[in-house]
Amino acid sequence: MMTKTQKIIVANWKMNCLQGDVGQYLDTFIMKIAEKRFEHEIILCPAHIHLSFVSERALDSTLFKVGAQDCAGAEKGAFTGDVSGAMIKDAGADYVLIGHSERRQYHHEDNTLLRRKVDQALKNGLCPIFCVGETLQEREEGRTHDIIEAQLSVLDDLSHGRIIVAYEPVWAIGTGLIPSVKDVAKVHQAIADILNKFGLTSTAILYGGSVTPDNAASFLLSPLIGGLLVGGASLDPDSFYRIVSS
Ligand code: PGA
Repeated sequence: MMTKTQKIIVANWKMNCLQGDVGQYLDTFIMKIAEKRFEHEIILCPAHIHLSFVSERALDSTLFKVGAQDCAGAEKGAFTGDVSGAMIKDAGADYVLIGHSERRQYHHEDNTLLRRKVDQALKNGLCPIFCVGETLQEREEGRTHDIIEAQLSVLDDLSHGRIIVAYEPVWAIGTGLIPSVKDVAKVHQAIADILNKFGLTSTAILYGGSVTPDNAASFLLSPLIGGLLVGGASLDPDSFYRIVSS
């Protein structure tokens, strides 16, 4: 059970780091967080190929948890290159990012496929971190709410399991541009209202997009923001540590 001040801080390493880099990262990061036990739920999402390696270190240290960056929409079979929910769980992860805007953009993932992925994740005991967010054009056209509502429709009528939602405006990812905390809180409230209608009443809603050690605290102060999904600034253990300790 999360306490009021407990937040969820997720590192999305994307397609970065070789195994040697991951090892060095973990040495530094574990040493730092071991000194000061955090209330926050810390989740590292490496590439699939490093899941087992990172999970072993997570088990040893019990200081953080592990997530994958994607999972297949099918259970198993002739899907060359895909990685199933069962494989991810077997590798020691407990979370999986689903519907990240880079998957939507470069792999044309639509609501039908994303629902299959969410179902597979839940079926295999993984907590989906479901990403939503509008493009700059959609925002300028005043369509943020409609876009997010359409993306969240994937989560209607889920039978069981914990889920986390991450609001990541596409225009804020990797650009250094960030919305105001007030704007984010407004969207988070709208997301919470939509999720409530689906019966998902205690879902944590994270913010993601150009989070840095300098702006993390301002987001974490808002009670409507349940945590952070961090890309670029999570690639350096010192900078991610500064975010976790914000
Ligand atoms: P960023 O990426 O922190 O580099 O903007 C966030 C994300 O894509 O999850």
